[in-house]
Amino acid sequence: MEKDWYRRMCFYQIWVRSFCDGNGDGIGDLYGVYDKLPYIHSLGVDGIWFSPLYPSPNADYGYDISDYRNIHPEYGDLQQFQKVLQRAHELGLKVIMDLVVNHTSDEHPWFMESRKSKDNPYSDYYIWRDARKGKLPNNWDSLFEGKAWEYVPERDQYYLHLFAKKQPDLNMDNPKVREEVKGIMRFWLDMGVDGFREDVITFISKKAGLPDGLPFLPIANGMPFYKDGPRIHEYLAEFRKVCEDYDCFQLGEGPMTTTKSALSYMTGKHKSLDLMFHFDHMMADCMFTEYIQRPFQLKRLKHAFSKWQYALEGKAWNTLYLENHDHPRIISRYGSENYIRESGTMLAVCYLFLQGTPFIYQGQEIGMTNIRLKSIDQYVDVSSKNNYHTFHLKDSIEKRLARIHASSRDSSRTPMQWDTSANAGFTTGKPWFYVNPNYTRINVERQEQEPDSILNFYRRCLCYRKQSEVALWGTYHEYYRSSGKIYMYDRVWKGKSLLVICSFAEHLISVRFPPKYRQQQGKMILCNYKDSDQENRKLRAFETRVYEYEI
Ligand code: NOJ
Ligand code: CA
Repeated sequence: MEKDWYRRMCFYQIWVRSFCDGNGDGIGDLYGVYDKLPYIHSLGVDGIWFSPLYPSPNADYGYDISDYRNIHPEYGDLQQFQKVLQRAHELGLKVIMDLVVNHTSDEHPWFMESRKSKDNPYSDYYIWRDARKGKLPNNWDSLFEGKAWEYVPERDQYYLHLFAKKQPDLNMDNPKVREEVKGIMRFWLDMGVDGFREDVITFISKKAGLPDGLPFLPIANGMPFYKDGPRIHEYLAEFRKVCEDYDCFQLGEGPMTTTKSALSYMTGKHKSLDLMFHFDHMMADCMFTEYIQRPFQLKRLKHAFSKWQYALEGKAWNTLYLENHDHPRIISRYGSENYIRESGTMLAVCYLFLQGTPFIYQGQEIGMTNIRLKSIDQYVDVSSKNNYHTFHLKDSIEKRLARIHASSRDSSRTPMQWDTSANAGFTTGKPWFYVNPNYTRINVERQEQEPDSILNFYRRCLCYRKQSEVALWGTYHEYYRSSGKIYMYDRVWKGKSLLVICSFAEHLISVRFPPKYRQQQGKMILCNYKDSDQENRKLRAFETRVYEYEI
């Protein structure tokens, strides 16, 4: 039988640098995490995903790893990690680690050796190529910084980096590299972690010959030759085997993945992942990446949700999220900063009641919003800076900065807003990055005291989900697909159903219930307005309701 514990769960994602500083140096750490474990537990989540905690030069804030078997000294040490892990387990929280093996840091000892010569034990750990007719080995663009190749005089060769220059891609075709990966997995599993979120795992097998990419793709032109590459299933089967010895699960990140491709990883003879992160629903206001913007359209969001719900039904399991460390804050995108509480709670319902395993990103549960810094020089994210300095160069500085305000990953990486004290209670020192000035209004302490806060609303949703078979297992059906303002769906399971209604309108709007629900009275079990009358068919700005029916 399929193990189902991860299907019943809800995860909380921690990007530790900005979560809570326990020792006053301005940088979030595992001492702070330890202190906040009771808070995390109080949310009603069942697990934590840690973005990378390993030693890293931080060219990409932890996604450039220089030692896979240790903890970054700014975050603590292995002992402190074990303390956190043990306490989390005592509280009933599972812990999953980020496994970043498409690339390492250029400061990883493997790369430092590899770059020295063509004949050292690590020379084939990375993807090295000669120049092609005096030019780069192929035309691939990096996703983060210019072209995907960097020259190293010692070898008179170029190395491939799909991401930043300081993130050289590992050569997964080398069996020694795969052994290293398996060793790393065992190291953390032996320590007791419960699984992995596997970073851009669908990119690890590159097509032999590294053919030129398609010139008409605006970004990531080489993707057809490294996404779902020729030996991907073979490699993932090896990694899967390691996991079989442990009671753990694997969640793969699949940028640009389709339902068809995702099903090839999660089902059938190649099953190698339990869950996958896709990006489709993150494109309702942009294309490919948040930097290429277009006006938000609810229909696009609904279409993405429904596509995945229908495609995976009975076959695989969805992963649900609205925020993480790679995307700007959701209220600033799909909700409204004029209606933070209303839109924040509505957005919670719209995805927490879908079928799947939800993830909540730190700060999402209190409705944190985007930060708007005055100059690009204040931003620290490598991809934001690169976008700013590469695209739309003819636009005014104001316009380009506005794009950054709407798209930067730094908006999700500002310090967590705990209370109204200096630096939002994140640190007693000088915070490593700007605190969003709205912390005096939006913070945990205040929302703890307000029964109807976003924070307490999240708790209510999770508490309901946990004990409701229909919320966990029910099949999904969408209604009124063509509405540009209302998202409505139901979940049906063993004679019970839930009708979920979300308004994305800022004004009063009438709803019609689907015929199936017009004759009988449901019980409203959740609403984000206090005085809602369950018979009233008019929804206020960003109103959401969930009804329970016997059918
Ligand atoms: C996806 C990670 O979530 C992101 O933060 C990182 O920059 C890239 N992969 C490269 O590792
Ligand atoms: Ca610290």
